[in-house]
Amino acid sequence: MTILLLGFSGCEDPQEEYDGVPITIGAKRNLSSMVPEEMAGQTITWESSAPNVASVTNDGIVTALRFTGNGDTRFSRGSATGTAIITATAGGLTHEITVTTTTSGTENIMDLPPLKDQFAEYFLIGNIFNPGDASGSARVNNERLTRHFNVLTHENHMKPDQISSSPSTAERMLNAARASGFEVVGHTLLWHSQIPPWQRNMASSSRETALTAMRDYISNTVGRFAGKIHTWDVLNEVFPDGGYSASSDWRQVMRSGNNGNPWYMAIGSDFVYEGFLAARQADPNATLYYNDYNTDQLGKATMIHDMVRDVNARYKQEFPNETRLLIEGIGMQEHHNTGVQVSNIRRTLALFKPLGVKISVSELDVLGQGWGQFSPIGSGTNKQGQSTVTNDGIMTQARLYREYMELYLEYSDIIERVTWWGVTDNLSWRSGGLPLLFDPRGRAKPAYYSVIQALENHKQKTDGS
Ligand code: XIL
Repeated sequence: MTILLLGFSGCEDPQEEYDGVPITIGAKRNLSSMVPEEMAGQTITWESSAPNVASVTNDGIVTALRFTGNGDTRFSRGSATGTAIITATAGGLTHEITVTTTTSGTENIMDLPPLKDQFAEYFLIGNIFNPGDASGSARVNNERLTRHFNVLTHENHMKPDQISSSPSTAERMLNAARASGFEVVGHTLLWHSQIPPWQRNMASSSRETALTAMRDYISNTVGRFAGKIHTWDVLNEVFPDGGYSASSDWRQVMRSGNNGNPWYMAIGSDFVYEGFLAARQADPNATLYYNDYNTDQLGKATMIHDMVRDVNARYKQEFPNETRLLIEGIGMQEHHNTGVQVSNIRRTLALFKPLGVKISVSELDVLGQGWGQFSPIGSGTNKQGQSTVTNDGIMTQARLYREYMELYLEYSDIIERVTWWGVTDNLSWRSGGLPLLFDPRGRAKPAYYSVIQALENHKQKTDGS
């Protein structure tokens, strides 16, 4: 009976079973378990019919490579990019396995080793969450988050408008995240966007009125969550996108006018010092951060650098016995597109490092296209069906993720956290640009494998030195 069963479960035509094994470009797969039993244990010789599509090592590890034949095919049509036949030969037997390479995701996020474990010795690995991701205040019920990430940021519910109108939702989510073992980032206190009308109106009030209102707001908000927040993004995006250069005075160039930062407009540039000081007093345990985007650009990076330097110098002067900095960290949002050069991010990290602050990559996503191609579709969730991202774009995105991650790993002595702004492309705020590591079905894209490759490259480099 047993013999019969064994004979039955052994595949009569293993060839058929392994026809068209899908493998995402950049990923590896072990083929040795896919050969007939008679071959197992023997020395096998492996050969790929199309080494430019899939290469195979002596141990039967196949890597899917890029096939350049149809680079213009729209990724949203989900086309595969190549096929290779892998022939295994041992002791006079041969066996063929067909590998189909694709830029579409293949491996389910739930079958992959947790990202947070893989990067544990380098930094915290974060993502965002929303009210539906938590069951009451008892736990986070999103398994993709709990498997792969160890720090969460509320995508919207700790922003000034939400925290004013529904603080209990923010608190419920915070408690659920902590009950599930996550650290939580408080995002964000002082901003020009997503703010309630009373804060917008502050712009035209007197310095004294605004200063009192800001201190009350911070001590109430930060005080409410005191002891539970790992990092507060105290101030977000105070510098506009242009209108200044690296030699400008940071005090003069902050967002003002119609959509300006109301605290800056009413109080003046020392609202930064006052705001951070109020946050420190309300929750001395939290690490206080300044957070912004386009930090790869020299002008903005320099304004941030100078502000942090000067605010921290004033704190040192007024609290000479204090050993901590007031602004202890800079969040680099890293909402990128294929036009953002890694050399510019490197320049910014080198600029920030002497400040002695921590760095977090706080909102990472990388469009699979340039800004000009993305903007006609624009931001918003569930726009992946309208995407104009090509296979080429998906591969460029993957390369950039590898380069960025290699750089972050190089700076892991100062980078404490890397947070992605979303898990699957469809739920991204920039879904039309397919900017994340996982496709809408939760399968790993080439970008995911690039992130893992960066880790392997880094380990190899540092082991060798
Ligand atoms: C985005 C959210 O992802 C969207 O859901 C919302 O509609 C707009 O804000 N910089 C930030 C984040 O600091 O708070 C923003 O989040 C993205 C840009």
